[in-house]
Amino acid sequence: MPVFYLSLGSNQGESLGLLAAAAEALSQLPCTRLCAVSSVYLTAAQDLESQPDFLNAVVRIDSELSPFELLEHTQLIEKGLGRLRSTRFGPRTVDIDLVWYDGLDISLPSLTLPHPRMQGRRFVLEPLAEIAPGLEVVPGLPVERALSLVEHQRVSVYTRAKGWWTSMQQSKEARQVVDRSALSGELRRLAQEKNAVILAHNYQRPEIQDVADIVGDSLGLARAAAASKARIILFCGVDFMAETAAILAPDRKVLMPEAKACCPMAEMVDPHDLRALKAEHPGALVVSYVNTSAAVKAESDLCCTSANAVQVVQSLPTDREIIFTPDRNLGGWIIKQTGRPMLLWEGFCPTHELIELEDALTAKREHPGAKLVVHPECRSEVSDVADAVESTSGMLRFCKEDEAEEFIIGTESGMIYRLQQDIPGKTFHAVTDMAVCPNMKLTTLEKAARALEQEEPVISVPEDIRLAALRAVERMVAIGR
Ligand code: 13P
Ligand code: SF4
Repeated sequence: MPVFYLSLGSNQGESLGLLAAAAEALSQLPCTRLCAVSSVYLTAAQDLESQPDFLNAVVRIDSELSPFELLEHTQLIEKGLGRLRSTRFGPRTVDIDLVWYDGLDISLPSLTLPHPRMQGRRFVLEPLAEIAPGLEVVPGLPVERALSLVEHQRVSVYTRAKGWWTSMQQSKEARQVVDRSALSGELRRLAQEKNAVILAHNYQRPEIQDVADIVGDSLGLARAAAASKARIILFCGVDFMAETAAILAPDRKVLMPEAKACCPMAEMVDPHDLRALKAEHPGALVVSYVNTSAAVKAESDLCCTSANAVQVVQSLPTDREIIFTPDRNLGGWIIKQTGRPMLLWEGFCPTHELIELEDALTAKREHPGAKLVVHPECRSEVSDVADAVESTSGMLRFCKEDEAEEFIIGTESGMIYRLQQDIPGKTFHAVTDMAVCPNMKLTTLEKAARALEQEEPVISVPEDIRLAALRAVERMVAIGR
């Protein structure tokens, strides 16, 4: 990922807190990782003696954002932290400067990189030298040499802030642990009081996986919902999963902590377009991935999950044409496994689509002893170089049973936690940190506890659609292990 260095400065009030808030906000930007944070340096305000001292630090972030996108974000962060004016030496809350970007020169009216004033500022060069000693602040000018030219400027390490970032993170984590354990306790208490079972998909946040009664893949959770005797099913996943539970268990109340948690792939096919395609292929059987709406399932002959897709297709009469919706990658993989041609819908999972062949090859080079295990929602060129292509629970089984000690995992990031919990003796690497399903992360302990407390939002399926979808879903649940 491209590397950025940013200088953070503040000279007002709770300066250290503002620097921490700015660093925290940068670490939360999309497709961005905070990789290094310098000590805090104290410097007298240049030019204006009456100004309070400045605190300065430099951070490194690795980010897929363009420098312009990052600039927009930094301006919003500054504004959010109360910065009103952009006077150079006037009182300010926090100042975030983009100082260096992947060794590239940019010279535009809105943005110049490397930052043109960086060379003359010891309060930027000192922290930069600490976290990136070999860096060239402009081509041919290493940071140490630039520093020797400004040694006369007064700058010192702010000793009161020693280890500032680590200790702030630790106290934040400690607070979160306390909050989380109270919420988990409350959730378990409510589940018992209300006779509820908590089901969580393998991609859910760690604290949701920890509190759930059952954690699994789509097939395992559908079966668990059908078999459960609980009055309430609290489904921590995305909408199609909760709908499938409602189709299979109409006498139970199905709740979702976050009703907005949808699956973009499921939205790529609608019943109207599917009916039109069926009309063009009158004899065809329709197999739909479980990642579809109840209305699409109602238009389908059979459903499958990634765990039993091959067996589902193999169970069909060989003389019938097959339409497969909506995942073209899973569909293509089934065709390779079964040798059966199918008409593929052009849907895909945006999260798995982010996993590139290059990521897989780089990870294999970096971990030569590890086996690559990927989800069939990955692009075909990624599945082609994998040692195994498995559903999320299939991954657990494979990694447990295989003799290898180390694995590269090509699926949504939550799976790494699941694998580490279930197989603590082995090592797992994510093929990329980019594969995060934002919808899967919408469910939090707070929302789960609120949903159980208020018994809403309830997920239900109109009875005519439910009955039409039931046959396809029941056949799915009956096939495979
Ligand atoms: P699994 O059925 O393998 O858990 O996958 C569900 C899903 O949404 C994958 O993106
Ligand atoms: Fe849908 Fe992909 Fe998220 Fe799974 S990971 S829920 S397929 S968007």
